[in-house]
Amino acid sequence: MSIRAAIKGVMGYVPEDILTNSDLEKLVDTNDEWIRTRTGIKERRILKKDGWASSDMGAEAVKGLLKKTNTDPSEIDLLICATVTADLVFPDNANTICDKLGINSAFGFDINAACSGFLYALTTGARFVESGTCKKVIVVGTDYMSSIIDYTDRATCVLFGDGAGAVLLEPTSEEVGIVDSSFGGDGSGRAFLHMKAGGSRRPATLETVMNREHFVYQEGRSVFKYAVRGMAESIGEVMGRNGLDEKKLNWVVPHQANLRIIQSVSKMVGVSPDRVMVNIHKYGNTTSGTLPLCLWDYENQLRKGDNLILVAFGGGFTWGATYVKWAYDGGDE
Ligand code: COA
Repeated sequence: MSIRAAIKGVMGYVPEDILTNSDLEKLVDTNDEWIRTRTGIKERRILKKDGWASSDMGAEAVKGLLKKTNTDPSEIDLLICATVTADLVFPDNANTICDKLGINSAFGFDINAACSGFLYALTTGARFVESGTCKKVIVVGTDYMSSIIDYTDRATCVLFGDGAGAVLLEPTSEEVGIVDSSFGGDGSGRAFLHMKAGGSRRPATLETVMNREHFVYQEGRSVFKYAVRGMAESIGEVMGRNGLDEKKLNWVVPHQANLRIIQSVSKMVGVSPDRVMVNIHKYGNTTSGTLPLCLWDYENQLRKGDNLILVAFGGGFTWGATYVKWAYDGGDE
């Protein structure tokens, strides 16, 4: 039997400060009813701790994960961090997180695939386990979205929040673990979702700052359509390849960008809403944090052998779906 990578634990971290829809009504021309009905979001967490950045949220999630899984930092071979809001352009967050937690014998790197980042990082981490290169791999998604959101732009500021989540991957010869993935990409989608300045094409200048070019720019309606199609197609592909139908599928774990996207995708795939993980009302879109935060919130309901499909769509465009057979009974670990 071949070796698979199994998720052996999950942990999340969200900042304590809450930004509600009524708080946003005081900042921009919006209202609670519009935000709830168009996005499903009621509130989001905002990082306000002095001196903290995305690596600190990631480190909190990883610290909790190590404790929960009784893992010593010295046992970790690899840490991959998914983020679009790394503390610095370089070095990466992964090595910073390792340094903060005394993970001294691991190597690490970041993956930037926007809202698909955690899924891509998870699959990459799984390959290092399956190949026998690594025994214990941590995959962490962390994003400090409020650091790149324009709180004068009502079209984007209502959508995003801050948070992080992490999982531990280990080898298994049981019939569980990360089974299969289907990924897609379309670089022409960058026109609809990007940050205008701050990279090598348009480095930061007084002008870029004055023009408010260091924030998320999104043409929401276009992104919405691509997201529904990309997510539904990749779920369909993974289900077809693995003989899964809606009866065999226990959970869909979707990226939390918009409740209407989640509902459209679930309907297209034929999965009933009670088997679709949703926590967007509490956290908004935390980019690389959404998938592990969903697993964390629903962990107690998961049973060994459950069939999960994790699915995401994000800037790039990037998208994909991953079939995971859950490796332990929630609440038992
Ligand atoms: N409050 C009130 N009105 C708002 C608003 C807000 N916060 N934001 C936009 N509007 C207005 C628009 O100005 C527009 O007004 P108009 O018709 O007078 O021009 C109207 O609401 C409809 O705007 P539109 O952009 O068509 O709304 P929408 O139904 O597409 O919802 C999003 C907007 C952003 C919520 C939605 O498009 C979306 O979620 N897109 C995908 C996001 C996503 O998946 N991102 C992926 C990265 S992870």
